[in-house]
Amino acid sequence: MGIMKPQVIGSESLEALSNAAADFLVRRAMEIVRAVGRFTLALSGGSTPQRLYEILARKPLKDRMPWQESFFFWGDERFVPADHPESNFRLAYRAMLSKVPVPESNIHPVGTGTGSAHEAAENYERDLQKFFGVNNKPRFDLVLLGLGADGHTASLFPGDPVLNERRHLAAAVRAPAQYAVKDRVTLTLPVLNSAACVLFLAAGREKKKMTDIILNQPQKAFRLYPAARIRPEDGELFWFTDREAH
Ligand code: 6PG
Repeated sequence: MGIMKPQVIGSESLEALSNAAADFLVRRAMEIVRAVGRFTLALSGGSTPQRLYEILARKPLKDRMPWQESFFFWGDERFVPADHPESNFRLAYRAMLSKVPVPESNIHPVGTGTGSAHEAAENYERDLQKFFGVNNKPRFDLVLLGLGADGHTASLFPGDPVLNERRHLAAAVRAPAQYAVKDRVTLTLPVLNSAACVLFLAAGREKKKMTDIILNQPQKAFRLYPAARIRPEDGELFWFTDREAH
C-alpha cells in the first residue's frame, strides 16, 4: 500500500468527531475479527479520546464491539500509579474498559508499579514481543493518537533523541518542562508506523495551527514535529478533526 496521504474526516464538534471515530473503530474491529479472529489497538491518552471511550462503552456500539477478541495496549503512559489522575490507563479504564465485557487478560497496560520508567519500558517491550511474537515487529490493527499543540504525539516530543530509535519498541522519555508528569513510556516510531491504521483525533482551537501545518506542509512539519512523522509504511492514516482544529 505504501505511504498513503492522510485522509481527513472533519466533524462539527468534539462530540461529532468522537461519534464518527467510534463508528469507524467498531466497524474496523468487526471486519478484522471476522477476517483474522482478533483486533489489536493502542489507545491514546490526554483528554481528547475520553468521549470516544465513553461512546464505545455505551449502547449501541457497546453491543457491537467484539470485546472478547479485542486486545488493548497504550501508545504511551505517564509513569504514575494506575489510579493516578494523570494515568492514561486510568482514563481508558474508567471511561470504557471497566464498563464492557473485555477479559482482563486482553488489557496490556504499561506497568508503572516498577522502580523506574526505564524498567517499565523494558517490561512493556517484553509484553509486546510476547504478544506479537519476538521476531515480528508489532503491527497494531489500529493506533489512536492525539496531537499536542507543540506537535508531539504519544510521548514523542520535538527534538527528543527517541525519535531516532529504530530498534526498541518502547522507550522511557522525559517530557519537556511544561508537562506536569515528566517521566513517560512511549511506543517508538517504528511501532507506530507499522500500524495497519492510525487515527489522529485533533479537536479544539489550540490544535488548529499544528494540524494545519502537518496536513498542509508535511515536509516542513516532518522536520519539526513528531506527529508529522507518523506515516504508516503500509497502512492508513486518518485525521479526525473538529471545526476548531481544521
Ligand atoms: C498523553 C497523550 C498525548 C496526547 C496529546 C493531546 O499521554 O498526554 O498520549 O500524546 O494525545 O498531548 O492531549 P489532549 O487530548 O489532552 O489535548
